[in-house]
Amino acid sequence: MSLSQLARSIRESATLKLNETAALLRDKGEPIIHLGGGEPKSKAPIDAVLNCAALLNTGEIRYTAPDGIPALKKAIVRYTEEHYKKIVSARNVIASGGAKQSLMVLLHAILDPKEEVIFPAPYWVSYPEMVKLAGGVPVPVTAEDGTFFPTVKEIADACGSYTKAVILNSPNNPSGAMYSKDFVQEMVEFCEKRSIYLILDDIYNRLVFDGKSAPNGYDFMKVPLEESKVVVINGVSKMYAMTGFRIGWAIANQPLIEAMATIQSQQTSGPSSPGQWAAVGALNGVQSSIDSLRVTLENNRNVMIERLNAFEGVKVHKPDGTFYCFPDFSAYMKDSQKLSNFLLEEVRVVTVPGKEFGFEGHLRLSYCGTIRDVTEGLDRIKWALDPNSSNELYLGDHKLVRDWQ
Ligand SMILES: Cc1ncc(COP(=O)(O)O)c(C=O)c1O
Repeated sequence: MSLSQLARSIRESATLKLNETAALLRDKGEPIIHLGGGEPKSKAPIDAVLNCAALLNTGEIRYTAPDGIPALKKAIVRYTEEHYKKIVSARNVIASGGAKQSLMVLLHAILDPKEEVIFPAPYWVSYPEMVKLAGGVPVPVTAEDGTFFPTVKEIADACGSYTKAVILNSPNNPSGAMYSKDFVQEMVEFCEKRSIYLILDDIYNRLVFDGKSAPNGYDFMKVPLEESKVVVINGVSKMYAMTGFRIGWAIANQPLIEAMATIQSQQTSGPSSPGQWAAVGALNGVQSSIDSLRVTLENNRNVMIERLNAFEGVKVHKPDGTFYCFPDFSAYMKDSQKLSNFLLEEVRVVTVPGKEFGFEGHLRLSYCGTIRDVTEGLDRIKWALDPNSSNELYLGDHKLVRDWQ
């Protein structure tokens, strides 16, 4: 088979692959606990479902404008005003098939071959591959002090004449950590000064805990949006638990949005129209589902952190948001891929190796499932790794007895 160099250079999404593996094992009747997931398990808001059903009932499901239906753009404009206190126009908005597609068409619109895109590590698994798909070069930056927080200086030091953009994802997948207001402010100022794009991936910015809120990049922008290289990415997937509808968006200056719309028009045409009408329903409807999801996630996070803190040797940063936690298990096993395989084989718990996010020794654990997933998943991991835990463990009906050699 002759495949392009590009096709051969791109790795498949580790997290989507894990979903497949977990589903296959479950189908075989294995008592899998999936702590590798990237989507909330709550239902889509009723207003989203009703709006989508109303369109489906007409039987007329057509192409839409490549950058989204006017009703959705209007809802996004209103959302931006309400949550970012920023007035934008529909001409500053593109709706896409998920935030992922918004990011992809954005990278296609701004990158020339070999231009570099910087992002802090740990990073979302897709950033490096998406940058490569758009012909660019991914440049992850790891904090020298081993934390999830590279300094502005560390990022500035990674910038060169090929640097075209910086991506910040806060709160962050996989760490759940949120960058400080000062950091976001300095990054906006730095990127404005250097005239490079600052891509703010805000997909988790409503899922923030402890009464905090995510810093708003617009607060620090000194130039008007039409002259700005700040791009905000968001979508309905995470905050409304609507991953399958595949609707996300970008907000940027008008010429950039037009370029992205042209690319999208040749790539996939407009996003799916049932998905767009569902997103209009979610954005304009009753908003209580976000709060109840956040409260559930915050509770799950607390339980997960409590259990992790009971491990001797595990270091963990308490997540500020998202539904991920990124503990350091290197005291047990340095190779995160091996550790993840071991946990799947020994105790049927799915985790994502930190290596996929540019951070060895860690595992990404999701708490977007049920509280039972969290407690039982962590009990199983503890049993597999910690000599101080009890000798017996039940996997479904199957009793395991530990044999520490
Ligand atoms: C950081 C980050 N950005 C973007 C996305 C993509 O979301 P969407 O479902 O809207 O494509 C994800 C999904 O996992 C994510 O974690």
